[in-house]
Amino acid sequence: MFSRALALFSLASVVLGQSASPSRLTGRLPALGWNTWNAYRCNINEAKVLGAANQFLSLGLKDAGYQYVNIDVGLLVEQDESRSGRIIPDPTKFPNGISGLADQIHALGLKIGIYSDAGTATCAGYPGSLGNETIDAATFSDWGIDYLKYDNCNVPANWTDSTSPPGGDWYNSNSALRYRQMGDALAAQPRPIQYELCIWGRANVWEWGARVGHSWRMSGDSKPTWSYITSIIKTNVAHLDYTNFWSHNDMDMMEIGVFPSSLSSAAPDRSLLGNGNLTVEEQRTHFAAWAFLKSPILLGTDLSKLNSTQLDIIKNKELLAFHQDPIIGTAATPFNATSSAPTTSPPEYYSGASSKGLHVFIINTGNATDTKTFTLSNVPGLGTSGTFKVHDMWTGKDFAGTYAASDDFSVSVEAHDTAAYLLKRV
Ligand SMILES: *[C@@H]1O[C@H](CO)[C@@H](O)[C@H](O)[C@H]1NC(C)=O
Ligand SMILES: *[C@@H]1O[C@H](CO)[C@@H](O)[C@H](O)[C@H]1NC(C)=O
Ligand SMILES: *[C@@H]1O[C@H](CO)[C@@H](O)[C@H](O)[C@H]1NC(C)=O
Ligand SMILES: *[C@@H]1O[C@H](CO)[C@@H](O)[C@H](O)[C@H]1NC(C)=O
Ligand SMILES: *[C@@H]1O[C@H](CO)[C@@H](O)[C@H](O)[C@H]1NC(C)=O
Ligand SMILES: *[C@@H]1O[C@H](CO)[C@@H](O)[C@H](O)[C@H]1NC(C)=O
Repeated sequence: MFSRALALFSLASVVLGQSASPSRLTGRLPALGWNTWNAYRCNINEAKVLGAANQFLSLGLKDAGYQYVNIDVGLLVEQDESRSGRIIPDPTKFPNGISGLADQIHALGLKIGIYSDAGTATCAGYPGSLGNETIDAATFSDWGIDYLKYDNCNVPANWTDSTSPPGGDWYNSNSALRYRQMGDALAAQPRPIQYELCIWGRANVWEWGARVGHSWRMSGDSKPTWSYITSIIKTNVAHLDYTNFWSHNDMDMMEIGVFPSSLSSAAPDRSLLGNGNLTVEEQRTHFAAWAFLKSPILLGTDLSKLNSTQLDIIKNKELLAFHQDPIIGTAATPFNATSSAPTTSPPEYYSGASSKGLHVFIINTGNATDTKTFTLSNVPGLGTSGTFKVHDMWTGKDFAGTYAASDDFSVSVEAHDTAAYLLKRV
């Protein structure tokens, strides 16, 4: 009886305790960067990570705004015998340690991310941080880490949630508490570290994510399939109210690029592993939707193998400017394009503001080229008067002619492609 009462008492004090707020010195805008997982799985080392960092410069990605070079799970750390001290990087794969790698990445003007897990072990079986948050957060800070992706594997049964939490507030769920413990440990460090809650869309994370970190995964891992793209857009669209500065619904890593050759024999089903299974139109929609819904954009391919079509997609200045807008943090949201527009799932028509004005994004979710139409005055905030030019964000060019607010604008959109416009009042 006594110990049970004590346990309840200590749990209650955790539940009622105020967690530290996430740093406001990082994570205001959705992250732009790269992550090792889709290209290399667990087969990573210093040369591959530094190689990607150098390609940020040589391919113009850094100039386009890409900043984070993130190490995912993968033979990252050896278990310290006693764990009295710190996790130690595998010295064969990281001969200069993570701090030596961080120094080199910082010298390129970029930032470095790392990975751990809110369980006893990572998804690859290396030490997790549950119960060791303080020492691990201090280690990451000492190494010079700028970003932590915190995964959700190997959770002890008593740390899971079988039913809805006390009082119905998921902030007080066991799942949230695991992420809050690391959030508190990060907040106590001298270094601002952007915090990604890789909680797979569980425990209604969008409701409490911004109190604990900067971004949160909306689902399980991304796949290079059109059905993944449409399903994660649907999921995100249901929770767009939670997206703003320091508060990012994360649709997971990008599948733009080539299928990793090292994986082809091991995994003949390309739709199950990273990259290389989307048409150009689907890659455009993938990038545009992540940009206009303001998800973090973390590339996941071997950057050296991107072709010019793909580089043009991921370096599109106007979509990146919408994504990184310094004044408006909210995402584009669905709107009713005409009085008779059909209802689709996910929605096809989105509008949103940037510091340049009002934008319209149109996804053709159908399997054939189709004409898409919107009435300008149906765009929320546009009003019912005035004259407009329609500017194509992909090409950087205006369409000929002008449109009145009461006019319809029609365009032919290829199957699974996305059109992106800025409406310029003239
Ligand atoms: C912290 O790490 C040590 C060493 O790996 C491990 O034995 C211990 O179980 C960890 N703490 C918790 C609470 O899991
Ligand atoms: C789960 O059990 C561990 C070990 O007994 C304990 O430290 C931890 O506080 C428990 N977690 C919860 C949410 O009760
Ligand atoms: C993607 O993978 C699926 C299933 O393996 C396949 O049917 C489809 O043709 C692939 N698409 C492309 C563009 O490679
Ligand atoms: C780039 O790769 C895509 C496939 O992802 C292909 O459709 C496209 O034609 C390629 N572009 C060039 C310039 O080779
Ligand atoms: C579109 O119209 C339908 C039916 O009138 C309405 O239920 C829905 O809320 C509208 N959607 C938006 C985004 O305004
Ligand atoms: C497009 O094709 C897929 C696969 O054949 C099918 O499942 C889907 O229903 C089609 N979508 C539409 C809108 O017709």
